Amino acid sequence: MAEKEVLIEVKDLKKYFKVGKNAVLKAVDGVNFKIYKGETLGLVGESGCGKTTCGKTVMGLYDATDGQVIFDGTDIHSLNKQEKKEFTKRAQIIFQDPYSSLDPRMTVADIIGEGIDIHGLYKGEERMAKIHELLELVGLNKEHALRFPHEFSGGQRQRIGIARALAIEPEFIVCDEPISALDVSIQAQVVNLLIELQQKKNLTYLFIAHDLSMVKHISDRVGVMYLGNMVEFADSDELYSNPLHPYTKALMSAIPIPDPDEEKLKRRIPIEGEIPSPINPKPGCRFAGRCKFATEQCFASTPALTEVKAEHFVACHRVHELENC
Ligand SMILES: Nc1ncnc2c1ncn2[C@@H]1O[C@H](COP(=O)(O)OP(=O)(O)O)[C@@H](O)[C@H]1O
Ligand SMILES: [Mg+2]
Repeated sequence: MAEKEVLIEVKDLKKYFKVGKNAVLKAVDGVNFKIYKGETLGLVGESGCGKTTCGKTVMGLYDATDGQVIFDGTDIHSLNKQEKKEFTKRAQIIFQDPYSSLDPRMTVADIIGEGIDIHGLYKGEERMAKIHELLELVGLNKEHALRFPHEFSGGQRQRIGIARALAIEPEFIVCDEPISALDVSIQAQVVNLLIELQQKKNLTYLFIAHDLSMVKHISDRVGVMYLGNMVEFADSDELYSNPLHPYTKALMSAIPIPDPDEEKLKRRIPIEGEIPSPINPKPGCRFAGRCKFATEQCFASTPALTEVKAEHFVACHRVHELENC
């Protein structure tokens, strides 16, 4: 197989927020991963674990507290204004909530055309033709161009959000929970549209979600985040058939199985307690307080993300002992 080309390399990325006088909220605390050209990297974890902050920092929407985001060979956090504008043409974001991410006073044409105008890509008739083409590409039609966002359903609004992201022909799109706010019946349609567009346009995705079943469907590889850290990272099939981190095992066990007989036989692994606060976090493994396998070592030192099997990385001191649990 040909060597895969790296599009983005995230190195020891940290994003801290100052909260109050002496408190630091460590939303993303030293994550490392690569995204290959043309792949979908899934990022999963409970709400509040730092997925959106990670996505926004990778996109350059937040400055990094530390670490690097190397996009096509250059650290995006070291770009000057002009270079940054060039970069924003190559990377786009689709947000979770299609209701609040579209300006209610703008027509669909102007929402989709905004990026085209900013980057001066097309004007006049050509611009409108491009907008019509984009609407059709995402499964809407050109009559929709002069309507306003409130005239559409949730799924249609997300399609408008996708058309807006595609308007400037980016290479990379952060999809931040693009289906979480949609009805279950609509979710698969939007995911299938994203897959279809990826193939047509050779796009690279960072797909953020807490719904593990949809992530498996769309992702080539998946990273599991817990409280600002990456705790496990592997090929999608490998991660789902052989989760190794106690947190990932618990998340997986919560996915419902469609077959009721199999569902009855399944062993659920409950996670005790609430996700702790990321403000001034304690040393040691962030999951230790909720992990029934935690030992003294887990509370004392943070485990590094280590390659346990080929291309399967886990951050757990006890991973070798737990492999068959
Ligand atoms: N702008 C901000 N200022 C302060 N804290 C923030 C900010 N954005 C996010 N956070 C905090 O960072 C943590 C991670 O949030 P977020 O990245 O939104 O998680 P997720 O997307 O996984 O739900 C949360 O504790 C959240 O409250
Ligand atoms: Mg989020």
